[in-house]
Amino acid sequence: MSFFAQVPKAPLDAILGLTGLFSQDARKHKVNLGAGVYKTEDGKTPILFCVKEAERLLLDQEESKGYLPIEGDPLYLEKTARLVLGSPLYEKLSVNLSLMQTVGGAGALRLGGDFLQKELACTKCYLSDPTWPNHPALFTQSGLAVHSYPYYNFQKKEVAFEEMLTFLSALSPKSIVLLHAGCHNPSGADLTRAQWKILADLVLEKQLIPFVDAAYLGFDISFEEDAFPIRLFASHGIEFLVSVSFSKNFSLYGERVGLLMVFSQENTASNVLSQLRVLARRTYSNPPLHGAKIVAKILQTPSLTVQWQEELSLMKDRIDSLRNLFVEHLSLEKMQTDYSYLASARGLFSFCNLSKYQVDRLIEEYAIYLPSDGRINVAGLSNGNIDYVVNALIAVGG
Ligand SMILES: Cc1ncc(COP(=O)(O)O)c(C=O)c1O
Repeated sequence: MSFFAQVPKAPLDAILGLTGLFSQDARKHKVNLGAGVYKTEDGKTPILFCVKEAERLLLDQEESKGYLPIEGDPLYLEKTARLVLGSPLYEKLSVNLSLMQTVGGAGALRLGGDFLQKELACTKCYLSDPTWPNHPALFTQSGLAVHSYPYYNFQKKEVAFEEMLTFLSALSPKSIVLLHAGCHNPSGADLTRAQWKILADLVLEKQLIPFVDAAYLGFDISFEEDAFPIRLFASHGIEFLVSVSFSKNFSLYGERVGLLMVFSQENTASNVLSQLRVLARRTYSNPPLHGAKIVAKILQTPSLTVQWQEELSLMKDRIDSLRNLFVEHLSLEKMQTDYSYLASARGLFSFCNLSKYQVDRLIEEYAIYLPSDGRINVAGLSNGNIDYVVNALIAVGG
């Protein structure tokens, strides 16, 4: 009898499991609206030209594949933190900042969760309802009790800001509140700048610990503009954490490039960093080299930085135009749902107001893959498949 006979089969991951099923589907007309990955018109996730060029330079110049320091590549840490905060704020706040290069944005969330649980004895983490399905799993794994705060009103299809504020105002100090910096996953509904300012005052007053998840910087307006909530919290002197993912905005998904930023006060940053190092050493020891070197090279080379900004803006423009095209096509049809609300959503995602039964039919009968909550990744659409998707939505009563 195997030792492992007692191991039960785990369910498929809600999002990545779909990608597996999609690749096994032999139907030619299949469409993947599942995982949050940018795609070109022919369904490919591209390597950016600036990335190829940076890799070429690295191939010529790199002299070692030795271990990185536990906290990561110093140049990467400096360049990415500067990018997120802008130079003036970075210069001002760098003494209050602990930075860790992480294994993607998910690695930053997990490391931050572990740190808050272990060093600050935090017990509770509040997530937006709804949220990215991996959030509850990551924070539970860090030993935190996971709860939800009201965020999205499914009837009105907008942020339920008043309910959110009322709920957060009643939390006890040191509660962790996970906030999406923008391009909210899964709703695409974001806070306005005025609402972020109200929230900044609230978290200070109630002594909450915000953890800002920035996985889509650059997919709303521009990288700089989308970093607004982080810059706002940082300039308010709030003690908070940020997980930054460079998976989407550099199209470096598989390279696993992320950043954890901890903003602290009263000369505590170096102790914080020392503990983050300990946690990383016990988990994966040191971070991967290649992706971080690519990002550092791009940000260190002015011509490549400009090229990256242009390529990021092209990806964002394509997402916007696909979204608009989708809404246009839907408005020409007699649908059960009024889909005009989709036009104001930001980033890759939106809910399509579908039941699990309708989603199952889309997968089984039409080979259109999406998670059971009816979230679609707009970048999975293309000029070539929009009509097919719209007709399938009509057929399932969408
Ligand atoms: C909201 C959110 N946070 C974090 C991540 C993690 O990104 P990464 O792939 O860099 O780990 C994702 C990825 O889809 C996401 O949607």
